[in-house]
Amino acid sequence: MTIIDGLVAEHRVFLMLFDQVECVLPGVKTVDEVALLCRLLEAPLHDHGGAETDLAYIALDHILHQQNRLTRLHHDHQEIDGLLKRVEGIKDLQKARTQLKAALDACRAHFNEEELTVFPLIEKALQHETLQILGKAWKSQSHLSQQSSMDRT
Ligand SMILES: [Fe+2]
Ligand SMILES: [Fe+2]
Repeated sequence: MTIIDGLVAEHRVFLMLFDQVECVLPGVKTVDEVALLCRLLEAPLHDHGGAETDLAYIALDHILHQQNRLTRLHHDHQEIDGLLKRVEGIKDLQKARTQLKAALDACRAHFNEEELTVFPLIEKALQHETLQILGKAWKSQSHLSQQSSMDRT
């Protein structure tokens, strides 16, 4: 498994979680429940963005013409953390629901851009063996991948 396989697999898990959250959202009765849903997503999304930055984006840092895009994707990671945190502070239920949905859409758009533009560049810039070594490093630090391998045992 390469680092890119691992990151894309995590995207798939998040996309399923986002769909589940959207399914339950209309039935949620309090802002505290909306905040709980945000907190469930925050830590794994933060870890995903951190691993991506440390293990994958760094590979493109030397390709100067990609700097603007990388800077924006780094900024997206901070923005995603902040969007969910801000939803937790909203006191109006309908507004909290709407803002959580907007945060999920922002994540979906970010994943989509990574998969369409950045990941193919990383795959082009690095040797397959290097991508596999990074994949091993990712696996050892990814809570989601550890969780899914525990589920299989
Ligand atoms: Fe990302
Ligand atoms: Fe990602």
